Amino acid sequence: DRILIPQEKIATRVRELAREIIADHTPPKMAGEPEITIVPVLTGAMIFCCDLIRQIPIQMRIGLLAVSSYPGASISTQGSQVLSQQLGDIRDHHVLLLDDILDSGGTLRLITPMLKQAGAISVRCCVLLRKDRPQAKQMTVDYVGFEIPDEFVVGYGLDYNNYYRNLPDIVTLKPEAVERMRG
Ligand code: IMP
Ligand code: MG
Repeated sequence: DRILIPQEKIATRVRELAREIIADHTPPKMAGEPEITIVPVLTGAMIFCCDLIRQIPIQMRIGLLAVSSYPGASISTQGSQVLSQQLGDIRDHHVLLLDDILDSGGTLRLITPMLKQAGAISVRCCVLLRKDRPQAKQMTVDYVGFEIPDEFVVGYGLDYNNYYRNLPDIVTLKPEAVERMRG
């Protein structure tokens, strides 16, 4: 429907977020000091993660976590479930969790305790987008890229029924497009 955040603005903000993250993370200098593991929530945070971590010149590992909203892919999140995980050993690691968008907060509420259970010393959360709705505002997150209106958006990793992730800008969907995908 319309471009909400053009790619140039995303790139600028991602660089700023990287600077904030660098300032908060002391890289390990000696063996045995806590390491950093970055955990993008797949699939939505994939592109965000690729761009962000290349701006963070700190020793890090990557852990993967695939999460999906319950099937029936609708425009409102029904809840989240972990589909697969490849976190590596995160015991005594500082974990930085990356997600594309904070909507109901269900995804972060599901995952944060899991990471602590797996032995992370700390879990910080970074979301590229936060929707303007009370549930999203109640959640404590450490880094937010953009505050956006409570609208459904796609592009830059975000999808509708797994489509549109490859759009370089973050855009809103026309109601007809939503209908067509429901097909
Ligand atoms: P939450 O669990 O309700 O906070 O929602 C987070 C997840 O729902 C995100 O990781 C997205 O996968 C998905 N989601 C929520 N809102 C949108 C949207 O506007 N566009 C695309 N995906 C969304
Ligand atoms: Mg997601």
